[in-house]
Amino acid sequence: MCGIVGYTGSRQAAPILIDGLSKLEYRGYDSAGICVHGEDGLNVVKAKGRLQILSDKTAGGNEVQGVVGIGHTRWATHGAPSDHNSHPHLSASGKIALVHNGIIENEARLREELLAKGITFASETDTEVVASMLGIYYDECGDLIAAIRKTVARLEGSYALGILCVDDPDRIVAVKKNSPLIFGFGQGENYIASDVPAILKHTQTVAYLNDGEMAVFDANSVQFFDGNGNPIVKTREQITWSISAAERGGFEHFMLKEIFEQPKALRDTIGPRLKDGKVVLEGIDLSADYLKGLNKICFVACGSAYYAAGVAKYILEKYCRITTEIMMASEFRYCDPVLDEKTLVIAVSQSGETADTLEAVREAKRRGAKTLGIINVVGSAIAKAADQTIYTCAGPEIAVATTKGYTTQLAVIYLLTMHIAQALGKVDADTYAGWVAALERLPEQVEDLLSQDRIDQIKSFAQRLTRHNNAFYIGRNLDGAVCLEGSLKLKEVAYIHSECYPAGELKHGPLSLIEDGYMVVALATIRELFDKTVANVREVRARGADVLCVTLEELAAEAKKQAQNVIAVPSTDPMIQPSLNIIPMQLLGYYIAVNRGCDVDKPRNLAKSVTVE
Ligand code: G6P
Repeated sequence: MCGIVGYTGSRQAAPILIDGLSKLEYRGYDSAGICVHGEDGLNVVKAKGRLQILSDKTAGGNEVQGVVGIGHTRWATHGAPSDHNSHPHLSASGKIALVHNGIIENEARLREELLAKGITFASETDTEVVASMLGIYYDECGDLIAAIRKTVARLEGSYALGILCVDDPDRIVAVKKNSPLIFGFGQGENYIASDVPAILKHTQTVAYLNDGEMAVFDANSVQFFDGNGNPIVKTREQITWSISAAERGGFEHFMLKEIFEQPKALRDTIGPRLKDGKVVLEGIDLSADYLKGLNKICFVACGSAYYAAGVAKYILEKYCRITTEIMMASEFRYCDPVLDEKTLVIAVSQSGETADTLEAVREAKRRGAKTLGIINVVGSAIAKAADQTIYTCAGPEIAVATTKGYTTQLAVIYLLTMHIAQALGKVDADTYAGWVAALERLPEQVEDLLSQDRIDQIKSFAQRLTRHNNAFYIGRNLDGAVCLEGSLKLKEVAYIHSECYPAGELKHGPLSLIEDGYMVVALATIRELFDKTVANVREVRARGADVLCVTLEELAAEAKKQAQNVIAVPSTDPMIQPSLNIIPMQLLGYYIAVNRGCDVDKPRNLAKSVTVE
């Protein structure tokens, strides 16, 4: 986690760094800091808490003079959020300053080694250990680049580092392994950042650094090196999306903006992959012969991506008759998974950076399985690690709680299911045509679900339900799979204790908890199972629960007889129905969080991109 940024040019660096960091806060936001080369050497300012505190402390950066600098926004791993644990960190000599995104796994050993040499530390961070070790090597050889090479050779784990040296006032050095780092080419100025939005205002021309690569740059030139120190030429890539895609654009929160962006994200994800009534997954090699030889499909993912995989399990098994397992990526590596070359492992990840998912992909490859990524961020670590990748086209997602990331993952999962069902001869032409038509209609149906009338209705339910401190989400089959994501939204952003249970399982334990003051969200959109779920609604209502039932428009009248609150969603093909059902649940979580005064886009203790295991 954490975000880093670096600037060198002719403008004042600090305001640019602080602005860049504001676009990276989704990566961590418990403290922030900058270091700028001033006339009197390295000038470090840090502050615990949100970036705004650092900004206030420096008048938006205007009180820190200098045209070369680095900055950091932190999500604590080693040591609590505090001023002294914030980056940048200085070497013991004070000659080197660095910012770090990642985690140094052999930090304890390195720290001991340095302590034995008499080095003292001002923080509990792994980063300060790196800064101090680099400082020692630099003092020994007087060559910054050689000292950096020697230092990174000793590091285990992940890092993207931005480095300043007091003796080299014009240059910044950046190096990375297992954490993202991009280089931005400007006119008479250059940048580094953990992610594109941080520098998009200044340049759309970037290079993505690969593991082991280093960039050594000043305002007018850059040299790239590979892991062996050989000069390399990096391809310049053009970012096609604009800065407005990464800004709030009039919405109160990124989460709400991103909920409203779902029709476009779905169009972008689905449109290019439906051609002449058929699914076309360009560049993806999943031939009928290969698919026929599979013994199973295994999904690995975390958080909402794992819940998207939960939908995949139901539909792949139902429509393709192929055994489908889903595993939390954090568990996958350590459970000795049964896989071989006849297993397809699919990793789902919005960021493409989640450490557990990345490691799961590597483990799957070690065991001989073929791997496929469903990823949003182009060129991200998981996209590179997987044998093949189908990109979701959600655009940048900033709010920590995913919305359009999840719905575009579902869209790719439908496309994949359609492709596999057809390749295996498991679907007739009419059903297939129905799927295609439903997918084509989906963006518009989502748009309808975001109409003002519907928003007002959800706001009024949210108003009523805000007072509850406990929630259950219940549903059966695909409805249950979607409830998991609905429940997660509520707990992530509104801090309400929320559990999700298959509706039929409730009576085997959790029903004992239901009493006055509990809210139950029941999803009942599967016609064949409607009566059963409504019977469960009756049970929880009889025990005092405040029930919100989400159901199909044609079933709403019936649902109203049992539930105090009913939201009706339009119907579509049953496979694709989850994508409509989740929309009111996202909105419910959002508006309850707003009512409770929560920090919707940056929920406490969480980060969007979780690059630690
Ligand atoms: C974090 C985020 C979740 C996300 C999960 C997986 O926990 O807060 O919203 O679902 O990571 O992220 P990924 O980028 O792999 O989809």
